[in-house]
Amino acid sequence: MIIKTNKAIPASEITDPLVFQQRRNIIKALLAGTLLPAAIGSVSANTVPQLRWPALTKSKHSTDIGLITPPELVKNYTNYYEFSFNKQDSTELAQSLHTDNWTIEISGEVEKPGHYQLEDILGRQTLQEYVYRFRCVEAWSMVIPWIGFPLVDLIKRLKPLSKAKFVKFTSIYDPENMPKQRINAMLDWPYVEALRIDEAVHPLTILAVGMYGDALPKQNGAALRLVVPWKYGFKSIKAIVKIELLNRAPMTTWHAFAPNEYGFYANVNPSVPHPRWSQFSERRLGSRFFTPRRQTELYNGYGEQVASLYSDMDLRHFY
Ligand code: MTE
Repeated sequence: MIIKTNKAIPASEITDPLVFQQRRNIIKALLAGTLLPAAIGSVSANTVPQLRWPALTKSKHSTDIGLITPPELVKNYTNYYEFSFNKQDSTELAQSLHTDNWTIEISGEVEKPGHYQLEDILGRQTLQEYVYRFRCVEAWSMVIPWIGFPLVDLIKRLKPLSKAKFVKFTSIYDPENMPKQRINAMLDWPYVEALRIDEAVHPLTILAVGMYGDALPKQNGAALRLVVPWKYGFKSIKAIVKIELLNRAPMTTWHAFAPNEYGFYANVNPSVPHPRWSQFSERRLGSRFFTPRRQTELYNGYGEQVASLYSDMDLRHFY
C-alpha cells in the first residue's frame, strides 16, 4: 500500500494480485541491486510483467546529445559531503550506508501525509530512462541515463493543498555511517534542498532510483534522489528520506552556508558567474584531454522547456 493511513486503498486490492506480487518482486530486486538490466522494463501498473522485461523505455524528455558519460566515471567521481569532500573517498565511504527498506516521510500541506515504503511508491509508478545532462556548479558536466519517474506523479497522489508553494527535500541523517555528519560542522546536517512547486511539478523533474540500467549506486544517491537537469547539481539531493510541501521557501544547505555563492534557484547560467569562478564554460567529464571546454548553455540547454518558469525574474538577482 502506498499511504499508511486508514483511508488508503492497498495497491494489492486494485491491481491483479499476481501482477502486484510480480511487480513488487522486481522492485525489490531493483532496490537491492540484483536485477538484470533487461528485467527493469516498464514497471507499470498497466503492463503485465514477464520474467524478463522488455527494454527500459526511454522518456520523451531524454536528451540525445552525443556521448553518454562512461558509468565508471559517474560512479567514481561523486560529491557526497556527508562522507567526504574528496570525490573518490566519498564513493568508497558511501558503501556503509544502509539502503534496505527505505521509507520516506511525507508531511506539510498535503491531504495524505504519512510514512511510505519506497517499494510501495515504486509499485505504482512507471519507471523510465531519462538521459539528462548534469551540470555541477564546479563547472564540470556529465550525461547520465537515470532510471526514475516524474516527481509530479508522486505529488499528485499526495493531493497537495492550495497552500503548498514549495517542496522541501531532506537527506538521511545517519552520523554513525556518515562521518562528516559527526565531525564537520561547516554544513548544517541533514542536507536539505527545495524547489518552488511549479519547478517540482515540471515534467523534467524526476525522482531517480537507478542509472545505466541498474540500481542507483549508494554513492550516487540510493535509495532515492532528485534530478533537476536545468539546475546546478547541488539541487539534486541524494538519499531522500523526507518530502514536505510548504507554504514558504525553506532554508537550504548550500544557500545557508554561502548565500552569495549558492542561490536558491541555482539555474545553470553562463552569464551569472560564481563569485570565485566563471560559469561561461564547462569541462565534460570523459572527454579527451585536448577537447576544448564546452560553452555552458542557459538552463543547461533545457531553456525551451523551462524558461517560461522564470520569464518575469531577473536571473542575476534570483541566481
Ligand atoms: N546530496 C546529498 N545528500 N549530499 C551531497 O553532498 N551533493 C550535491 C548533490 N546532492 C550532495 C547531494 C552535489 S554538490 C552534486 S554536484 C551532486 O549531488 C553530485 O551527484 P553525483 O555525485 O551523483 O554526481
